[in-house]
Amino acid sequence: MRTLVAYLSSSGNTRRVAEAIHAALPGSSTMAMADVGPLDGYDLIFAGFPVIAEGASRRAKRFLRRAQGRRVALFLTHGMPASMSEFDSVVPNCRRAAAGCELLGEFEYQGRMVPWMPKLLRLYPRGHVRRWARMDGEAHGPGHPSEGDLARARAFAIEVCGRLTVA
Ligand SMILES: Cc1cc2nc3c(=O)[nH]c(=O)nc-3n(C[C@H](O)[C@H](O)[C@H](O)COP(=O)(O)O)c2cc1C
Repeated sequence: MRTLVAYLSSSGNTRRVAEAIHAALPGSSTMAMADVGPLDGYDLIFAGFPVIAEGASRRAKRFLRRAQGRRVALFLTHGMPASMSEFDSVVPNCRRAAAGCELLGEFEYQGRMVPWMPKLLRLYPRGHVRRWARMDGEAHGPGHPSEGDLARARAFAIEVCGRLTVA
């Protein structure tokens, strides 16, 4: 089975999880979405990206459109703690961005906020994003993705592939 692990990542969190998924799947390939050529020949695509404005960014959506009709599993990096009520819409929004793909599941985890990000996010028009940017400590995900997050990512990847191999 040919498996691709494609990712978007500006501050490195999603890339680290992509590497963990790639390491868990011998024979898989991994690359930044911008470097991915034709998708023909891939049986399964893990597509990972950071959550932007509660969903997939334009670049992530563009990639998911290319993947329509293919088997896709999502891995989603969010900055906001999943306990914030605004988080509730994030996974459904990302699933919607993958409409037309054969969606096999999604895995979400918090990524650490890099030092320049709160300054940027305080300018953001959405009030809860500004509120989150002003929080500190655990709300900014220090140490994430953690070893535990990476282990869960590997288990997710193996579980998705195992389902296809058995089917
Ligand atoms: C412009 C902008 C908007 C963002 N909006 C959200 C958001 O709505 N919800 C959220 O949980 N995180 C949001 N984030 C945070 C990123 O998803 C988070 O920092 C992620 O860890 C970045 O992943 P990366 O290191 O792979 O680039 C936003 C970040 C930026 C720069």
